[in-house]
Order: sequence, then C-alpha cells, then structure tokens
Amino acid sequence: MCGIVGYVGDRDASQILLKGLKRLEYRGYDSAGIVLINGGLKYCKGKGKVEKLGKMLKQNALAGTIGIGHTRWATHGEPNDVNSHPHLSESGKIAVVHNGIIENYTSLKKQLIERGRTFQSQTDTEVAAQLLEEIYTTSKGVTFEEAIRLALKQIVGTYGLAIVHTDRPDRIFIARKGSPLLLGIGDDEMFIASDASPIVEYTNKVIYLDDGEMAIVTKDNYEVKTIDDVALTKEVHELAISLDAIEKAGYPHFMLKEIFEQPRSIADCMRGRVNPDNGAIQLGGIEDVLDELVNARRIVIAACGTSWHSGLVGEYLFEYLAKTPVEVEYASEFRYRDPLIGKGDALLVISQSGETADTLAALREAKRRGALTLGICNVVGSTISRETDAGVFTHAGPEIGVASTKAFTAQVVVLMMMALAVGKRKGVLRQEQMLMYTKELAKIPSKVEYILEHIDEPVRKISGLFTYAPNFLYLGRSYNFPVALEGALKLKEISYIHAEGYPAAEMKHGPIALIDEMMPVVVIAATDHTNDKMISNIEEVKARKGRIISIMNDENSDVEDLSEFHISIPSTKDCFSPLLTVIPLQLLSYYIAVNRGCNVDQPRNLAKSVTVE
Ligand code: UD1
Ligand code: GLU
Ligand code: MG
Repeated sequence: MCGIVGYVGDRDASQILLKGLKRLEYRGYDSAGIVLINGGLKYCKGKGKVEKLGKMLKQNALAGTIGIGHTRWATHGEPNDVNSHPHLSESGKIAVVHNGIIENYTSLKKQLIERGRTFQSQTDTEVAAQLLEEIYTTSKGVTFEEAIRLALKQIVGTYGLAIVHTDRPDRIFIARKGSPLLLGIGDDEMFIASDASPIVEYTNKVIYLDDGEMAIVTKDNYEVKTIDDVALTKEVHELAISLDAIEKAGYPHFMLKEIFEQPRSIADCMRGRVNPDNGAIQLGGIEDVLDELVNARRIVIAACGTSWHSGLVGEYLFEYLAKTPVEVEYASEFRYRDPLIGKGDALLVISQSGETADTLAALREAKRRGALTLGICNVVGSTISRETDAGVFTHAGPEIGVASTKAFTAQVVVLMMMALAVGKRKGVLRQEQMLMYTKELAKIPSKVEYILEHIDEPVRKISGLFTYAPNFLYLGRSYNFPVALEGALKLKEISYIHAEGYPAAEMKHGPIALIDEMMPVVVIAATDHTNDKMISNIEEVKARKGRIISIMNDENSDVEDLSEFHISIPSTKDCFSPLLTVIPLQLLSYYIAVNRGCNVDQPRNLAKSVTVE
C-alpha cells in the first residue's frame, strides 16, 4: 500500500507529481519522494508527509518534464529518509518506486552483495534497482527493457513498479503484479498512478494494467505487453469520477465530509436498483448469476477490517431474508487454510478499494476451487471487480478518509439488496414483504439525513466528556453486534483509544470484569426483537457502575432511564438498523479523535488500500 505517480510530457513534472502524491497520500504517508530525469537523475525524498516534500522542493526546485514519485507505507525498513523511495541503483542511473513486497529480497540482496554491490537502505525495493542494474550491465546485448523482464522473473512477491533510467530519458517503464497501476492518456502527455485520483484533473482516458503486464510510456505513445514480451491491445476506459468528489468541499477532514455524504451515497447505491412502487430489486451486476446464487449451498463472505464487519451484517441478512446459510471469514485466514469451498458454493468478497491483497487472494483461491465468485467493491475498474464472476458496485464515490464510513454503509446497502433479491427469487419472501422492505429501504437516506441534523451536537458533547478515556466497550446484539465491532474499530483507528466490541450477552463471559465507574460502554439498543434482552444487558452494566452511552430508538424510555447519555435515532426495520446506528458511532470516534489532536484522515500506521498481505 502506497501511492505511485508518474508524468511524462512538456509541463513541470515536479508540480504534477507533488499534486498527485497529495491525492494518493491516503494510501500511505510515512515518507515521500520524487525523481526526475534531467541530464542525470535529480531526486528529493524523505521521511514525513507529502507537505514536507513540498517544502523541500521549494528550497531545491527540481526541473524536468519526466519523473516518478512515491508516498510510502513501510513494510521493510523503518520510515526514514534513506528508506524512502525512489531507490537508486549504485551508479545512480536507475531509479525505482515500488508498491508491494519483494518476498525473496534477502536472498537476492545476498547474491548482489557477493557481486560487490553496496546497499544504502533496509528496503526490499532497493534490491529491484540494484538487480536491474546488475542484469543490464553484465548481460551482453540486453536492452534495458529486457533487463526489466529478466529482473521481474527473479522477483518473488508483489509489485507495482515505476522505473526510469538515464539511458532512456524519454520514457517511464511500469510493471504490475498484485499492486494496482493505471495509465492516463493525455494530449502529448501521459500519467501513471496507483489509482485514478491524480489523473482525473488531466484526462478521463485510462488503461488499467493487469497482473503480469508492463508498459513503456513516452509522452505521445505507450506500449503495453506481458512481462513475457507479448504485445497487448488494452481497452481504454473512460473515468466517471469528478474532481469535486476527491476534494474536501469545505469540511475540515475527508472523514467528516464522507460521514455527511451518507444520505447521498446510500441513495446513489440504491438508485435504479430499489423500486418501492412495485417491490422490485434490480441488481444488473448479478442478474446473470442470480439463479446460481439462489441455488448455492451456502455463501462464504471473505473480507478484511470494516468490510469484514459489513460481511457479518450480511450473514444476518442472508440467513434471515433469504434463508441461505452464510459463513464470514477473514480473507487472510481463509486463503491459507485449505478452505472447503468449491462448485455449488458462492464466495462473496467485499473490498472498498477492490485491491485488498488478502481479499484478492481469497477470491483467487475460491475461483481455483470452482466456486461462483462475487464482489462488492467501490472502485470501478479495480482488480477484484474485474476478477470476480459478477458483482455489485457500491457507487459511494471516492472514499479518501482512511477510516471507512460511507463505503461501509454502502456495502451494507448492497448486502441488503442482494439478500432481498435472493429471498425473492427463492420464493422465501412474498410480494407484500418485498413491498414493505423496499419502501422502508427507500426511506433510509432521509432518516440518515435526519440523524446527521439532530445528533451532531449531542455527540460532540459526549465526545468532550470522554476524550481522555483509556478504554471503551461497545455492545450490540443481532444486526447491531457487527456495528459494535465497527464502532470500536473506528475509535481505535483514529483516536488510538483501546476499544472492544462485543455481542451484548457475551459480555458476561469475560469483558464484564473490565467494567467499573471509569469505563464508557456504548450500547446499541435500537433493534426491536432483542430489546428486552438488551435492557437486561444494560442493567448488568449499570450494576457495575459502567458509564452508559446508548444509541436508542426515539422514545424508548426504558433504555433512556438506564443511560447516563442517550442518542435517539428514528426506528426502522431491525434488519436495516445498522445503517442508522453506525452513524452516531462514526461521529463519536471522529470528534474524540479531533479533541485528542489526532490526524483523523491519516491515522498513524494505517493506510487506505492494503495491497500487501
Ligand atoms: C451498470 C453501470 C451503471 C449503469 C447501469 C445501467 C458500471 C460500473 N455500472 O450498473 O453505470 O447506470 O449499469 O444499467 O458501468 N462487477 C463484478 N464484480 C464486482 C462489481 C461489479 O464483476 O465486484 C460487474 C458486474 O457483474 C457488472 C459490472 O461489473 O457486470 C457493473 O456492475 P454494477 O455497476 O453493479 O452494475 P449495474 O448496477 O447494472
Ligand atoms: N516494500 C516497500 C517498502 O517497504 C514498498 C512498500 C509500499 O508499498 O509502500 O518500502
Ligand atoms: Mg452462519
């Protein structure tokens, strides 16, 4: 996970690269650097954010019209100046930026050291630069392009790579295996990036590189081929995202903007898909495989992080609405344990970016074993969306804040629509139920809007009182158990407060020992069918003097009486309630993190698109 940019054209490359890195910074932000070809290689890099790189560049302007840049999320070697990318070969003629992990870098490095090469950094990436140079300079008659191919054959692991060489000063070489890369085609200029955000303001014509492919890019031409040198004709896609969608629009943080965008992103996700007038759900993306999905023995959902939480909501939804058995797996565990999945099963993977390395690997494993594979992704054109048999895009718009908010609610909406569509096709749900559910689903955007208008102030107050709490407990039942996990994760991610989510009744089996008068306990008490049980659980917390903050339906006096603080939200069908209950939890974590002075959009140690295992 990191951001790669490249530019070749007639403009001042350093400014374009810097701006591109700023847009990609959510992907990784421990160090940044750029390198331009201008006679020799001119570079500037260091530990810290892109802003710091900008300052360095002000002092030491780099002139040139071709170059590459990187914002790093360290995997090998601590974030410091030396380990920042670009990495240069020993002669200083080759520079490389890399996203991914070279798994066999230790043995490659050892061999290169034995051949007399000296290394500057602790990174795996420097090995690529040195290996390339070793091959290029010691193999007779080998062009630089061939040297790249030979080097890639020796590299085990994953990469998105951009490479420049002073011998070929008019071009950038790129290659991909496992980490995304796009090529933006302009007028007498070309752009390279890990995702579309640095490209949209210049051109909407892009090519997505696939695994095992490389490209040679000059300002007025590009050549795409496999790394075995087979020429390819790639489809040129048109980008649909706009520039506004990737800017803050007056909000202090992307996360807050994205929280407040939810009435619209949820509506966008349902647009043309949910029809409350006739009770129909139309998911064009899975229409062709709907019967196969309906007949699936079971659905396995594999995902990571927040997407795993939406998957857990999906389990409750599919089992209740469609009577299809579901198992939810951490993608990272699923892929490595010889999973029992095959023909007759469906694997559903969920990933905002559509590039999550573990999720992608789980998908490939299930596909290899013959399962039907489906995706729920936000980024159109992403690897997972292309490799799944079918799927549904969330259409939530670009999510830049590292802590996911609107992507989560959109994923849950897709799962609701899918479960309803399967339930209907299966004959489990009758027409009048479909009418009732679609009517209620269509009301969700305005309910979310109502919540955002009414709870911002109370949540802000509560956040002020608990800013310095060392721990938080989140409890929920049924559909809101995954929301409890998600609320705890949000708080951990951006405020660094230790937080745990639990099914409310499970609390008795351990976590209750933690409760005392210092412990804030957020209880999600907004599901009718578990209300009485939840009230008993709240009593148990109260008896131990826990500080109860409840998320409850309007006018639930039982819950209100038991709570020190309560946040009232409108009611809905139990199965849709996560879309409403998660909103106050997102805001609570946001305000606490702001109070603590944390960098909300770029929390420490995290990155948005986890493209390493
Ligand atoms: C599609 C169009 C939408 C248009 C609508 C009109 C796209 C991205 N969407 O939406 O702009 O308004 O038709 O009919 O062009 N897919 C996967 N895996 C995934 C996600 C998606 O394979 O993880 C596939 C789907 O199977 C489908 C395609 O990508 O073939 C587009 O998916 P989606 O946007 O959900 O389909 P529609 O809602 O029909
Ligand atoms: N493995 C490389 C490093 O640690 C690249 C990591 C990244 O993708 O940012 O520098
Ligand atoms: Mg189950």
